[in-house]
Amino acid sequence: MRLDKYLSQAGLGTRLEVKKLIRSGRVLLNGATAKKPEEKVEEGMEVLFDGNPVIWEEYEYFMLNKPAGVISATRDSRDRTVLDLLACVHSKEIFPVGRLDKDTEGLLLLTNDGILAHELLSPKKHVSKRYLVWVEGEITPNDRNLLEKGLDIGDKKLTIPAELSNINYYVEDGFRMRRKEKDEEKPVVQTRLEISISEGRYHQVKRMFAAVGKPVQYLKRLSMGTLELDEALAPGEFRRLTEEEIKKLKKT
Ligand code: URA
Repeated sequence: MRLDKYLSQAGLGTRLEVKKLIRSGRVLLNGATAKKPEEKVEEGMEVLFDGNPVIWEEYEYFMLNKPAGVISATRDSRDRTVLDLLACVHSKEIFPVGRLDKDTEGLLLLTNDGILAHELLSPKKHVSKRYLVWVEGEITPNDRNLLEKGLDIGDKKLTIPAELSNINYYVEDGFRMRRKEKDEEKPVVQTRLEISISEGRYHQVKRMFAAVGKPVQYLKRLSMGTLELDEALAPGEFRRLTEEEIKKLKKT
């Protein structure tokens, strides 16, 4: 691989920027000062920038806390895409692993590792995805039973059983909403809960709650397989996955 491409793909800057770094004599190739951007980096060669090793990785992995209003595509003529949010950092052809709706927030993995993406998205693998959901009205024991057993959302097959957890009920209190107290009589206006599903059908979570008559008001993905959304990331922020996260995800 050409040295300028190697440095750029290792994250040192654009091709133009790294050409300047090479010309300034700050890059060593196997102990000798590199002179030209077109010099070749062969396997096993040592590349140093200002004395620090430059490691080129074939694959890049990012977790994004997707904000609402951005679409999960690589490019779009009208809307801002998740790739626009990462434009300044990635150097390879990365893409989002699966889709979140435009108004959905939360965990989105972006990578150029097609094999991992395929494994995570394969319908046969049943990789679990956990969402935080706010729905209108009260999720009753009967709704819960239906959602957990599998229900008809208008496709040929029923949904695979889901798992509901952390269910909390909200009531109106003046202009605000608050958690319902135990034994309180007020009507529930919203239920907040987590749901884990192991399929990835179109608008699946929204359609599941619509099927029990409780429209989704807010949706955020919290995890995918072993990968948990880093809650330190505000909507729109992203970071690279750690080695540990990548390793665990590949085992999923
Ligand atoms: N299910 C949905 O309905 N929307 C999403 O964005 C993700 C899962």
